[in-house]
Amino acid sequence: MTFLFNSDARRGAVFQEIFARELPDLPFSMEPASVDPDAVRYLISWTVPADLPRYRNLEVLFSIGAGVDQFQIDEVPDHVKVVRMVEQGIVRMMQEYVTLAVLALHRNLPAYLGQQRDRVWKALPQLQAPERRIGVLGLGVLGRAVLERLRPFGFPLSGWSRSQHEIEGVTCHAGDAGLAVMLAEADILVCLLPLTDETRGFLDADLFARLPQGAAVVHTGRGPQLDHDALIAALDHGHLSGAVIDVTDPEPLPADHAFWNHPGIMLTPHVASVTQPHSAARAVADNIKRMRAGLDPVGLIDRRRGY
Ligand code: NAP
Ligand code: GLV
Repeated sequence: MTFLFNSDARRGAVFQEIFARELPDLPFSMEPASVDPDAVRYLISWTVPADLPRYRNLEVLFSIGAGVDQFQIDEVPDHVKVVRMVEQGIVRMMQEYVTLAVLALHRNLPAYLGQQRDRVWKALPQLQAPERRIGVLGLGVLGRAVLERLRPFGFPLSGWSRSQHEIEGVTCHAGDAGLAVMLAEADILVCLLPLTDETRGFLDADLFARLPQGAAVVHTGRGPQLDHDALIAALDHGHLSGAVIDVTDPEPLPADHAFWNHPGIMLTPHVASVTQPHSAARAVADNIKRMRAGLDPVGLIDRRRGY
């Protein structure tokens, strides 16, 4: 029974050290070429490796990242559990990033950066936090964590998900009717949805039109959820006032893409959250212990839903 690590060697060394301590009876390998394929029960990877069929006794495929949309899930045999990464490093970084983005938009940072470039010293009108409504698409591990971090600022908070949730201090919506209500009241909309067939192209012209005049968008989900042209049009027509974009399609963006120079867009290269090896290794080791105890792993994917 072997754990096969199929990602970068720097993170692998950390996993190896923590697994030796936490799961001393579980052989650990970073060498697909030298491992006995029949011994591999657990595999961690960013994508589904081309040689997956070699691992005939594989039980669990772990994603090294929070999302699993990069897996061609049809290539994974039905009996293999697919598990996304749920670990505190990713959570903390996403809390930091979305807080940074929301506060930058709330405090007119894009406009002030433009004024600085133009040597303009001028105070702009400033809403107070209780007047700025924040809506979060996706109330999973990351959406909830971000809302918890934003709460002390005093923004009115709402969130939307497939199923109905209850979160203290957050107005929770679900379904199409709930989405319409939340969008109409979201001055800053944060996308933390997983990429599935249902969420591909979700941030489109129709959705932007349903946001209040002057609203702004923070996109930290996945690139293919965003219609780039629709975002540019909504910004250029003045319906949206700004956007903080961490994920695009494709990544990286081509050098001539309109996002690079748009004054209303702050762009980062898919860095909102990055898996942190120490906390990730402990989370995966804990998940193996859970499964050995007959429990489901944290982050188990429901293949029918796609997340
Ligand atoms: P999660 O725990 O699986 O939560 C997903 C949330 O989205 C759930 O609340 C789910 O609703 C909701 N949802 C999914 N499909 C929906 C639909 N069609 N309609 C309405 N709600 C829907 O995921 P997570 O850990 O929070 O991560 C979310 C995503 O963040 C990841 O999939 C990844 O794409 C992205 N991410 C980005 C970065 C970055 O650096 N930019 C880093 C990490 C993750 P229910 O609660 O009802 O199931
Ligand atoms: C990063 O985007 C991740 O999925 O962890």
